[in-house]
This record gives sequence, structure tokens and C-alpha cells, in this order.
Amino acid sequence: MRIAIAGATGNIGALTATVLEQDGHDVVRISRSLGVDLSTGAGLDDALVGVEAVVDATNAPAADEAATVAYFRTTTGNLLAAEERAGVRHHVLLSIAGVDRIEGNAHYAGKREQERLVAAGPVPWTTVPAAQFHDFAAMVASWTEQDGVATIAPLLVQPIAPSDVADILAEIAVGEPQGRYVDVVGPEPQDLVDMARRTHEARGRVVKLVPTWSGAFGPSMAGNVLLAVDGARIAPTTFDEWLAEQR
Ligand SMILES: NC(=O)c1ccc[n+]([C@@H]2O[C@H](COP(=O)([O-])OP(=O)(O)OC[C@H]3O[C@@H](n4cnc5c(N)ncnc54)[C@H](OP(=O)(O)O)[C@@H]3O)[C@@H](O)[C@H]2O)c1
Repeated sequence: MRIAIAGATGNIGALTATVLEQDGHDVVRISRSLGVDLSTGAGLDDALVGVEAVVDATNAPAADEAATVAYFRTTTGNLLAAEERAGVRHHVLLSIAGVDRIEGNAHYAGKREQERLVAAGPVPWTTVPAAQFHDFAAMVASWTEQDGVATIAPLLVQPIAPSDVADILAEIAVGEPQGRYVDVVGPEPQDLVDMARRTHEARGRVVKLVPTWSGAFGPSMAGNVLLAVDGARIAPTTFDEWLAEQR
């Protein structure tokens, strides 16, 4: 099967492309650095010739809510329109578990807009809401790290291994459209500050962490709101197993 991955040079997109190729599929890689831009549509029609399914694992630059919503509206609109022209039969969107439960986060507002466009769009679809990835804590700390100090919110999350997300996206992409899939989460709850500390330690980095609710994530994300809900699909790889690969 010929499958395009939008965001194929990114964290999840690259892993998904590899899984699908190992399974014998013909993978088309899409990203700006590979000459295809969802913001303008440049290169999209050529990339989608003969493609049956598209996995959207792109990301948006950090920005305020209005700019993030506008970015996802434009990129998703261009991608869906090109898929319709090409006769693509299945659009698979990587989203975030809990986006509809949490207000006040610009990225989440953008993902809600992306999900809305996909559900209302012309191509049969599956949206896959994933929990935070195992590398999320170190990424969040890196946003503010300066002179060996970083801030981070003490979120409770149920993180999932990037490789498990890629396996699930690959499985879904070759199947029939399913609408909004169940949340996909990892096997255990974790505290984001502890995850960041342990990731830094495993990678041999010394970073002082300052817990706060005044940074990128506010009190609307406190409590159990990011943990698994009933019916979620639990992926197998624990944070400790992933951490062992970081050493
Ligand atoms: N991090 C988490 O814990 C988490 C959890 C659940 C869901 N998610 C979602 O997962 C998605 C993917 O995250 P990720 O961390 O794998 O992303 P990432 O590593 O930042 O990769 C983003 C990819 O998108 C491409 N891209 C960005 N803008 C593009 C454009 N205009 N046209 C074409 N390609 C474009 C990038 O390549 P170029 O720069 O070359 O264009 C890159 O290949 C995000 O939408 C995020 O909301 C993340």
C-alpha cells in the first residue's frame, strides 16, 4: 500500500515511516525540509499521486492561540483538499488525549481546530488521541532551560513510548477509517517533574528543575485531567523501559 506521512522527519512521523516500510509498504515522506509545505500546499499534489492513506504527524510552532489555530487550519485545510484531489481513502490524524477536556492552552486549541476540520472534511478519517510521549518531560524542560535551570509543571500524565505511538498509527493507517479512536496511553501514571529529572540523569545532564504552574501549563491541567479515561488503549512500553534506552 502507498502511504504518505506528513511530518516524516519528526519524532513520531519518522518512526511511523520506518514501521510501515518494514511492513513492506511504499512510504512517501512529507515535510518542508523535503520540499513539501502544508502551509502553502507547495509540492503536495505531486507527493500524493497514487497515495491511499495519509498520516498527519506534523506539528505547529509555539505561538499564541489565534496563531496556532490559524496555522493548523491552513495546514490541515491544504492537506485535506490535496487528498480529495488525489482520491486518498483514509486520513489519519495524530492528536492529543484530553484536548476537549482542557481550556487555556494554545496548542490544544489548535489541535481541536485540526480535529474539527478532519471530522467535517471530505476524506474518511481516523483521529488518534495520544497521551504525552515519554520524551515530553525533557522537551518541556528544554523550552525554558537557561544556565542550567528550567521550569516545569508537576503534571500527572500517563505517558506513552514514541515507538508504541508509531506502531498504533501504522496499524490504523492500513485499516479502515474509524472516526475518533479511543485515547492511546502508556501503562503507568507519572509525575512530569520526576520524568524530567530522571531523563536528564539518564542522559548525563545536570539541570535544576523549578516546579511551577505559571509557565506553559497552568492549573487547568492539574489533577487527574491528563490521566487515562475508561476504555483507553494501554500501550505496553513503560517509562522505565524507555529510560533504559536513554542511558
Ligand atoms: N509531544 C507529545 O507528548 C505529544 C503527545 C500527543 C500528541 N502529540 C502531537 O503529535 C504531533 C507530532 O509531534 P512530534 O513531536 O512528532 O512533532 P515534531 O517532532 O515537531 O515533527 C513535526 C514534523 O512536522 C513537519 N512539519 C511541520 N510543519 C510543516 C509544514 N508546514 N509542512 C510540512 N511539514 C511540516 C516537520 O518537518 P519540517 O520542519 O521539515 O517541515 C516535522 O517532520 C503534534 O501535532 C503533537 O500535537 C504530541
